[in-house]
Amino acid sequence: MTGIRNIVILTGAGISAESGIDTFRSAGGLWENHRVEDVATPEAFARDPHLVQRFYDMRRAAIQEKLPNPAHFALARLDAEWKGGLLVVTQNVDDLHERAGSRRLLHMHGEHLKAWCTLCDIRHPWRGPLAGNPPCPSCGAHALRPDVVWFGEMPYRMGEIYAALREVDLFVSIGTSGAVYPAAGFVQNAVELGAQTLELNLEASQGSHMFHESRLGPASEVVTAWVEEILGA
Ligand code: APR
Repeated sequence: MTGIRNIVILTGAGISAESGIDTFRSAGGLWENHRVEDVATPEAFARDPHLVQRFYDMRRAAIQEKLPNPAHFALARLDAEWKGGLLVVTQNVDDLHERAGSRRLLHMHGEHLKAWCTLCDIRHPWRGPLAGNPPCPSCGAHALRPDVVWFGEMPYRMGEIYAALREVDLFVSIGTSGAVYPAAGFVQNAVELGAQTLELNLEASQGSHMFHESRLGPASEVVTAWVEEILGA
């Protein structure tokens, strides 16, 4: 890979799988007999807020027990050592990229460790449960929700993402099934702009055919090897 200056990396649940966080489309995607899609929508929250808050409380508690794996650390090393442009766009709502040391990072689907007051619109760092309907630390309203993007909602920071994609020389997709748009369409944007594209995933994803190259294997191995390669090139 020559002539690469600007890199955009999209990560999904697969990069956190070896840290012990379930991917979305593994194991039938069921939680207490609810399809995950049925608790991750604004409609579900309107219908049964307590159920949705319990689901996110459980996941918020769980991620705090997990640790970054070698794939997260490899991307943090790339962030520290890559002199050109770099942006990691994660669909993940865990904080494992940050804990590994990544800085040039954005969360397009929000963050588990933040609560969003739907009344005063302020987002607060949040580690505990929301199911008890605690007050907003800013305005006191009992209107906090997880700061995660649900199905049917607009992902965050799309302007910044498309700006980075307009300049990209190499687009890399890691650990994502390519099932959820708009993220699944980023490879198409990159190809149309003449960038090289690389997929690093456990298995061929729905969008594999759109990439110039696919390398299959666990993220801890394929991401680490690719970072070694690009930094050594
Ligand atoms: N290493 C690399 N890839 C892996 C590993 C691993 N150890 N384990 C699993 N994978 C791959 C799977 O093969 C799959 O292709 O990671 C991908 C995970 O896909 P999904 O579970 O669909 O997760 P993701 O693509 O991140 O989901 C996108 O959907 O539910 C919504 O908002 C949610 O951000 C999420 C979005």
